[in-house]
Amino acid sequence: MTETDAECAKQDEGNPEEGTVEIFIMGKRYEVPIGFTIMKAIEFAGYQYIRSCGCRAGFCGACSTVYRKEDEQKLHFALACQALVEDGMHLVQIPFVPANKEKYDIHELKPDDNVLLSIYPEIARCVSCNTCTKSCPQDINVMQYIQCALRGDIEKAAEISFDCIQCGMCAMRCPADIKHYHVGQLARRLRGKYLDPDSENLKKCLEMLKSGKYDKEIEELVHMDNDKIIELYRARKIEAKGELDDEGGDGQ
Ligand code: SF4
Ligand code: SF4
Ligand code: FES
Repeated sequence: MTETDAECAKQDEGNPEEGTVEIFIMGKRYEVPIGFTIMKAIEFAGYQYIRSCGCRAGFCGACSTVYRKEDEQKLHFALACQALVEDGMHLVQIPFVPANKEKYDIHELKPDDNVLLSIYPEIARCVSCNTCTKSCPQDINVMQYIQCALRGDIEKAAEISFDCIQCGMCAMRCPADIKHYHVGQLARRLRGKYLDPDSENLKKCLEMLKSGKYDKEIEELVHMDNDKIIELYRARKIEAKGELDDEGGDGQ
């Protein structure tokens, strides 16, 4: 585990004094502290993540987990770094979803009604079963954005899919073999490139970067030690909408 991982892991340490819960990992029984995330509990049980683990913060979508509870037929879906362990959980980690992403050149596409359907024609096979929505750990109405894509409503498909973290749990269960997250991503790319107004702040920042204004700072960051980078990251100023000054922010 790297130092950064250890820092992140501190955020999901439970309190062993509050007691334990009984969980099963691939059928084997373990007692783990209450308040642990599934990821932390799996590590506590002695397993090491060599894949299916990235940000440990609910953003990267790598840690798709399926579990079943005692006496329940239903399968539950969760991100291992976010969901807390519960008594009687039977857990399995699932490998990365090998969903093919179509190749396209965004500069050559036109944001017309058929563009999403032409790149991902399988969306026409949607049978409206809503399984994708039920599988989504981000509570996104996945079926709705697929239906919007099918109707050619790029703006809405982009908006509804905005919080997608590409975990692939929707695609794993879809009877129509739709790769929802790639469809949503293309809708967002099209909306960003062709439909939304250009960001003036982004333009300014790109110009400043190209002019070499931050070359020295970037070089310093590349050679900075890990602790200092973590300190700077935590102290960073997050730009609120419209707050960028004429200089283009504080450069952090
Ligand atoms: S799981 Fe597949 S078929 Fe079912 S609603 Fe979602 S996209 Fe449509
Ligand atoms: S839409 Fe699909 S890939 Fe995106 S977060 Fe939800 S389940 Fe994961
Ligand atoms: S490890 Fe990135 S979302 Fe869980």
